[in-house]
Amino acid sequence: MSFPKNFLWGGAVAANQLEGAYLEDDKQLNVTDVMVGIISNPDLKYDEKTNKWIPDFKEDKVYLSHDGIDFYHRYKEDLAYMAQMGFKAFRTSISWGRIFPNGDELEPNEAGLQFYDDLFDEMIRLGMEPVITLSHYETPLHLLTEYGGWLNEKLIEYWMNYVEVVFNRYKGKVKYWMTFNEINNIFRMPFAAGGVLKTTPNEKGIPNADLTDAELYQATHYIFVANAKTVELCHEIDPEAKIGCMLSLSSMATYPYSCNPDDVFGALQFQRKQKLFLDVMCKGYYPGYVKRIWNEQNCTPVMNEEDLEIIKNNTVDYIAFSYYRSAVYKSDGSITVDTGGAAGVENPYLEGTSPEPWRWPIDPKGIRYVCNILTDEYNLPLFIVENGIGLDENLDSEGKIHDDFRKKYVKDHLVQIEEAIKDGCDVMGYLYWGPIDVVSAGTGEMRKRYGFVYVDRFNDGTGTLERRKKDSFEWFKNVIETNGEEL
Ligand code: BG6
Repeated sequence: MSFPKNFLWGGAVAANQLEGAYLEDDKQLNVTDVMVGIISNPDLKYDEKTNKWIPDFKEDKVYLSHDGIDFYHRYKEDLAYMAQMGFKAFRTSISWGRIFPNGDELEPNEAGLQFYDDLFDEMIRLGMEPVITLSHYETPLHLLTEYGGWLNEKLIEYWMNYVEVVFNRYKGKVKYWMTFNEINNIFRMPFAAGGVLKTTPNEKGIPNADLTDAELYQATHYIFVANAKTVELCHEIDPEAKIGCMLSLSSMATYPYSCNPDDVFGALQFQRKQKLFLDVMCKGYYPGYVKRIWNEQNCTPVMNEEDLEIIKNNTVDYIAFSYYRSAVYKSDGSITVDTGGAAGVENPYLEGTSPEPWRWPIDPKGIRYVCNILTDEYNLPLFIVENGIGLDENLDSEGKIHDDFRKKYVKDHLVQIEEAIKDGCDVMGYLYWGPIDVVSAGTGEMRKRYGFVYVDRFNDGTGTLERRKKDSFEWFKNVIETNGEEL
């Protein structure tokens, strides 16, 4: 038997992708409420009267996240499905704006706090550990339009007010915390993933159109300070709790295209774009390779000795990460990043891709590779808090979904995770991404379905919201029941 006895089997979601109720119980708009998919531009326009960005909702767009899958009202039914599969853990996020609707209030919103109390109580009653992300694309919009979000050092103060309230409130209930979901995507998706907005207008009228790397390194530095202070506070308020960073590490599985040193070194440099975040949050210092970039590009962030001390003294307890696919780096090719990871040139050695239209390269061994790199470099417990596959699925004439592709994808990845455990990696658990169909983060659609449970909702906003088990439901239940013996 390779999976440890106390292995945390379960699933992961995020508030903004399933709760809905986007303005209920005093919540105000957050970043994902004003966009359809986080890889697109937010729907904001610059208001010359107030000199502020304001929402600019488009009539021809469907903002599916506004209603999500109505988890806010149906969470008991949904958690019951998770419990039927035998989940030991369930990951979701606290939507910051439910607790501090604008982000800069002095007093929290009791209705929001009560919602998460009830939600966590229900998870615990059903035998699931709540695994909670503090920020998963849910920064209150007001903090961006008023202050520029994380471009402004003031955000650290507002953030600390928020985390102090939730640590005190959920002390003893939540044992596993994570700070900023996939914060290494800040350079590619600064608005939603980074919570960053230039408050000044630009010629193009597009938010963040002239954002510079210097500004992003500065925002990242404030986030690193906030991360370290959060770790410190979490340990102080609840010494029993563990707190991790959360990164998108598909892109750590970026392979050189050939043994051409330019491909090899280029792949290393690309991996370092992710490693920077691990180095600071796990080792507690800025590595030399980023200092070189700062010097050469004249973009060293403003920081003081005290910041560096805080970062040094408060590293995370574990590394939580997502892995979906791998990429290939070719020195004269191109490489881009989206929610699933990086996309470079095609890898002819892989067994194939997921079906149209997303066509993600399928690389189970990549997850073993990432686990091993992380263990070698950081020697911390690893928590796989996202892995899964989005498919365009429709009920057949008998009302069923035969998702054999998903079963194989998960099985093949679990085989490699087992290998990583045998390699000596301390893997705490496996949380499948999207155990119930939710709104896609990247594209904002329902059509990209990850669930073991199907939800009757479509891209045009229609649907009864009825839930149904897919074939993979019973299969995953058996995996958990046998602690991974039967895959
Ligand atoms: C991760 C995010 O990047 O990937 C999730 O943390 C997201 O929020 C998941 O849903 C899958 O991406 P997508 O774009 O297919 O929903």
